[in-house]
Amino acid sequence: AQTVTRNADGAVTVGGIEVAALAEEFGTPAYILDETDFRARCRAWREAFEGTHAEVYYAGKAFLSRAIVRWLHEEGLNVDVCSGGELTVALSAGMPAARIALHGNNKSTAELEYAVKSGVGHVVVDSFEELARLSWIAQQQGVRQKILIRVTVGVEAHTHEFIATAHEDQKFGLSLTGGQAAEAVRRALTLDGVELVGIHSHIGSQIFDTAGFEVAARRVVGLLAEIKAEHGVELPEIDLGGGLGIAYTSDDDPREPAEIAASLAQIVQRECAAAGLSVPKLSVEPGRAIVGPTAFTLYEVGTVKPLEGLRTYVSVDGGMSDNIRTALYDAEYSVALASRTSDAEPMLSRVVGKHCESGDIVVRDAFLPADVAPGDLLAVPATGAYCRSMASNYNHALKPPVIAVREGEARVIVRRETEEDLLRLDVG
Ligand code: LLP
Repeated sequence: AQTVTRNADGAVTVGGIEVAALAEEFGTPAYILDETDFRARCRAWREAFEGTHAEVYYAGKAFLSRAIVRWLHEEGLNVDVCSGGELTVALSAGMPAARIALHGNNKSTAELEYAVKSGVGHVVVDSFEELARLSWIAQQQGVRQKILIRVTVGVEAHTHEFIATAHEDQKFGLSLTGGQAAEAVRRALTLDGVELVGIHSHIGSQIFDTAGFEVAARRVVGLLAEIKAEHGVELPEIDLGGGLGIAYTSDDDPREPAEIAASLAQIVQRECAAAGLSVPKLSVEPGRAIVGPTAFTLYEVGTVKPLEGLRTYVSVDGGMSDNIRTALYDAEYSVALASRTSDAEPMLSRVVGKHCESGDIVVRDAFLPADVAPGDLLAVPATGAYCRSMASNYNHALKPPVIAVREGEARVIVRRETEEDLLRLDVG
């Protein structure tokens, strides 16, 4: 499980700083992100694929800010964006456009024009309409846009229904077995304005079993072989997406990037050799596996309500507006009393937020010491991915800041929202 580091007094620390000092300086709730860990994870991914002719794209949807983009740039990673907004953040922090890929099942014309004009490295095409529109847009701009075609490989990924993406009955990609993928390739190879460089597959998210990726790799290489047979061209790239799971609780057993890299590279090489293809460049798009474990959310306890024979409800000063994952996916988290240690008996607790509904749960089942009291600080680990990026203003909550900690220094990389921020948008 994702654990926290404590000093001799029992207080949780990050980068040598005690949580009480962070709460005092920056307030709660706050996402506390360990920059050193983030950079180390970027390097681990890059090094895992080094020498295998591969690229690592960080999936910006997990969490994107300008500081993050600068770190990615410095650590030699690329970035995958899935909206004009994410593209703006990536470009404005100096990521070279050539190192950005654009995703999305329903990119607007404006987003496609923006991406082409910016010179993004490639666009991952998700539909026939997009293919035609992109071809036209690129021709208007007098350029040839590199593209990948996203295919649905028909793998049942073992994860929550809402985040599995390679089975047939969903909105992403073009079906391999249904022949849509081959048809899209046919069209892409004849259209002006686009240059088809490869095939993309993303099977889902929070996946532990590498078998799904291996099946996807085999099927994508199979398509490359069919393309060679039908058109006489060898596409030079494949992208196998992201989706590697992280440990939210002690039940989770994540794979290491090096393990994933070795198994994917091996399968691609073997399948290509068998099909008489030269080995394409391989890309991957991890988001959660890089940023997820690098942050925890720091909350302050406001009320403690023991329910005889049931459990104790511990309310914190945030909730589903800063972490929707528990309500949305039944996600599991752990929690630690962070401001001190306690020898009190463990009590069955539910950490809940301050929003006006009973589904507002941060940690469904946890054992906290029985003396947890208002004013205590709680840390919920592994909230770096899809928490700030999916945060909302429900009940006009103010989105928490992201505080980066490195070598004993803490600084704000995304500031806390203020009531002026809310009122500024309300122009009625
Ligand atoms: N590439 C593509 C095309 C994707 O759609 C995704 C995630 C990724 C890469 C990155 O996947 P990761 O390595 O982060 O698992 N909001 C959900 C996750 C949705 C993921 C959507 N696509 C959650 O909180 O679990």
